[in-house]
Amino acid sequence: MIGDSKTRVAVLFGGRSAEHGVSCASAASIVRHLSRERYEVTPVRIGTDGLWTIGLDHQVPADVDTVTLLDMTRDPAGPRPSALESMWSALSRLRDEVDVVFPALHGGHGEDGTLQSTLELFGLPYVGSGVLACGIGMDKELTKKLLAETGLRVADSVVLRGTDYDEVSAEDRERLGLPVFVKPAREGSSVGVSRVDDWDTLDEAITTARKTGMSKVLVEAAVRGREVDVGVLEYPDGRVVAGPPLEIRVPDKHSFFDFDAKYQGETVFDIPPSLPPAVLEALQAQAVKAFRALGCSGLLRVDFFLPADLVPVVNEVNTMPGFTAMSQYPRMWSAAGLEYPELLDVLIDTALVREPAASR
Ligand SMILES: Nc1ncnc2c1ncn2[C@@H]1O[C@H](COP(=O)(O)OP(=O)(O)O)[C@@H](O)[C@H]1O
Ligand SMILES: [Mg+2]
Repeated sequence: MIGDSKTRVAVLFGGRSAEHGVSCASAASIVRHLSRERYEVTPVRIGTDGLWTIGLDHQVPADVDTVTLLDMTRDPAGPRPSALESMWSALSRLRDEVDVVFPALHGGHGEDGTLQSTLELFGLPYVGSGVLACGIGMDKELTKKLLAETGLRVADSVVLRGTDYDEVSAEDRERLGLPVFVKPAREGSSVGVSRVDDWDTLDEAITTARKTGMSKVLVEAAVRGREVDVGVLEYPDGRVVAGPPLEIRVPDKHSFFDFDAKYQGETVFDIPPSLPPAVLEALQAQAVKAFRALGCSGLLRVDFFLPADLVPVVNEVNTMPGFTAMSQYPRMWSAAGLEYPELLDVLIDTALVREPAASR
């Protein structure tokens, strides 16, 4: 906040990824929890076709939900501009009318560095990681390579690139063992992820992964163990802090943390999980290490497996994790005493003091 005036925040949501709907839900929560004393809020919807629509601030009710938010950002009447024209005119307006952008977008064209690079070009400050960290964080192969290089443990895998050599050899099958997890290299919300218990169904799983439009696919050794996520948050003074770990307990009817288990509300989160304090500390230290290794800013959720030996294995990272009030990231911080509105304050204040991209 500058003087008595409010900070003007644009919340970008929707987007062209498979996680469009999740993003709308995250944004509704963010808009609802942004303090009206501190902020003037402008919602901006990006359609699945890439059309940008700006909503008007004075229409945002305090108890906004997803339906209201979508209603406020309906496509304008009259001739439709092209996606590119709408983006250009929205960004030109935002450059003059807001102080900071909150990209409440998950997946491709939102969490993968492309949007971040556009915001950089327009000189708009934004919440979260920059171009490079988002690009690497979105790509499961590159994330694992970088984190393994930093000394963190990751699952063994084979990468299929959809080019000349595109099969899992007999030696690889022997080494990985069954089950394996087959996943698109750059997706989220478990879209396109399958568990393969029999090599005969591998091709089908690869086809499912590629239906997302992503040719690069990981075939990964299954890690048997618990799933524990850790949230990392950067404060405006530069401190990078890990929150209390959160264990995901998926109901037995799901064979893994699939899309339905994520959004049907039956999955139980334990914050913190019952684990020895040394293991909780190790998870937190490794999450901060991952944040630094990837060159992140603002926030990161690092998702681990915890096998029987209690030595964490990093599964993946999310530079813009789910942000509904029921999502893991805000719930971890709430358990640590940092409630949702204050969490948003920290993220926005950190974005506003951040140095220009070139130095990140
Ligand atoms: N190597 C693995 N071993 C065990 N379970 C896995 C493995 N990879 C993925 N899973 C399961 O699939 C879920 C989704 O996979 P993930 O790689 O996290 O993709 P997404 O980015 O879509 O969340 C995980 O939360 C976990 O339940
Ligand atoms: Mg995941």
